[in-house]
Amino acid sequence: MTSLPPTENPLRAGVLEDLSIDPCALVIFGASGDLTGRKLLPGVYALAKNRMLPSAFGLVGFARRPMTDDELRSKMRGAVDKYARQKPVDDLVWDDLARGMRYVQGAFDDAAAYDRLRVALEELDRKRGTRGGRTFYLAVPPDAVRTIVENLVRAGLCPPPGSGDAPYARVIVEKPFGVDLASAKQLNRDLLGLLDERQVFRIDHYLGKETVQNLLVLRFGNTIFEPIWNRNHVSHVELTVAEHIGMEGRGKFYEQTGLMRDIVQNHALQLLSLVAMEAPVAWDADAVRDEKVKALRALRPIRSVEEVRAQAVRGQYVGGVVRGDAVPGYREEPDVARESQVETYVGIAARVDNWRWADVPFYLRAGKRLGKRVTEIVLHFKPLPHPLFDTSTISLRQPNSLVLRIQPDEGIALRFATKVPGQGVAMRDVAMDFRYGTAFGHESPEAYERLLLDAMRGDATLFTRHDEVEAQWAFVDPILGAWRDDRVPLERYEAGGWGPAEGDALMQGDHRWSKP
Ligand code: BG6
Repeated sequence: MTSLPPTENPLRAGVLEDLSIDPCALVIFGASGDLTGRKLLPGVYALAKNRMLPSAFGLVGFARRPMTDDELRSKMRGAVDKYARQKPVDDLVWDDLARGMRYVQGAFDDAAAYDRLRVALEELDRKRGTRGGRTFYLAVPPDAVRTIVENLVRAGLCPPPGSGDAPYARVIVEKPFGVDLASAKQLNRDLLGLLDERQVFRIDHYLGKETVQNLLVLRFGNTIFEPIWNRNHVSHVELTVAEHIGMEGRGKFYEQTGLMRDIVQNHALQLLSLVAMEAPVAWDADAVRDEKVKALRALRPIRSVEEVRAQAVRGQYVGGVVRGDAVPGYREEPDVARESQVETYVGIAARVDNWRWADVPFYLRAGKRLGKRVTEIVLHFKPLPHPLFDTSTISLRQPNSLVLRIQPDEGIALRFATKVPGQGVAMRDVAMDFRYGTAFGHESPEAYERLLLDAMRGDATLFTRHDEVEAQWAFVDPILGAWRDDRVPLERYEAGGWGPAEGDALMQGDHRWSKP
């Protein structure tokens, strides 16, 4: 990717955004976990490096494992050295960040640990000038969330908005939010009994991806797409969230989670809601989320076992070859049961029952150990009404599609048919291709950077609201129910391919999965 300094790229000229935040502290629960090292600390470092953090900033790690402040600092430095987006790590920036780091050791249900946390935060207020603004990041499993929030409230660390001296206290809750509809509803009730919805930030890092946000700009910042973004012009929509990686040491987590809960309930349905939603009346958290919730509620339920069989496929990978390397099957991964029935692939033929999308299939597929890492949305437009030229292939009968490449190689391509130069009218389908990297010559921030910043600024537009997360669970819950009772087969697919053949059979008529 070309990396011109931002000011030298004419496409970026004049773009100034005020994303400044007030003095504050960030507390990470689950500070010794994988997410903290891989994503959160590199995100915080990038914000500091790009001068998005106030100088009065403090960070407290909270976890069970005994550790000193200095041990936390060196562990985090190791993680940032490994995972930072901009390398090498700038020592001046790091040293300043590290001076504001504290570690609090404790179990999540240990009330005394929250007193120690309060002392640490008050000390940061005095020494670093963090002035009581606090964001608590709960990088913990869903069953730990309630205990932590109860203890935070009991320790006086989460005053309601607008009360007392504290400017704010916000809680970021990692996914998965609950493990099914009932537990998500319970978690919402618990949280909203203790906090105000304005204080709860349910994170789905896909919403922090630049190209995911661009979906809204593409749709609602242009006039040419919206008139054709409906059932009159679109024949079907494909949504792919594919990864080539396997378990990477997360076998235990996957055995409890599975791909539906890990990817489809959140990331894939978020993408679907952004494609399907109506235009919000304003760019603000509630207006945007109102429309997403409506789209999610319009998803036609897939309830009976027959419907699940016909419209949803679950698969699990067996050994194969991924990018030239032989890899083991899911059941051979560490911490995975030899007879495991957990899915690592999901395909769904969904319908959005409203005026805009009636009769338009939305095909979703997501999986581990597929051919490559690619997240992509394709809107296929209707076939030609009457053929004048060669229509021997599907791509010539249905020449038009809009491909939104979320990652990698972020961009947008419009496919259409064109005449091959020469005698006669031989045709080919070609693409008008916009590539972020080439156009802007600027590396996009990581999703977590954007979302940490937004939470600390109090902007919940890119976070999931309580009713939204419930609407997502309401759609996947009955499918999971049929799978849990083993009333639908678990298909096998070879690692490195594109999932089980049954996933292809979900498509109706002429529809085929695109080759990403
Ligand atoms: C996470 C899932 O939410 O998203 C992982 O838990 C998955 O299993 C990851 O690998 C994918 O994120 P990204 O940003 O790499 O597409």
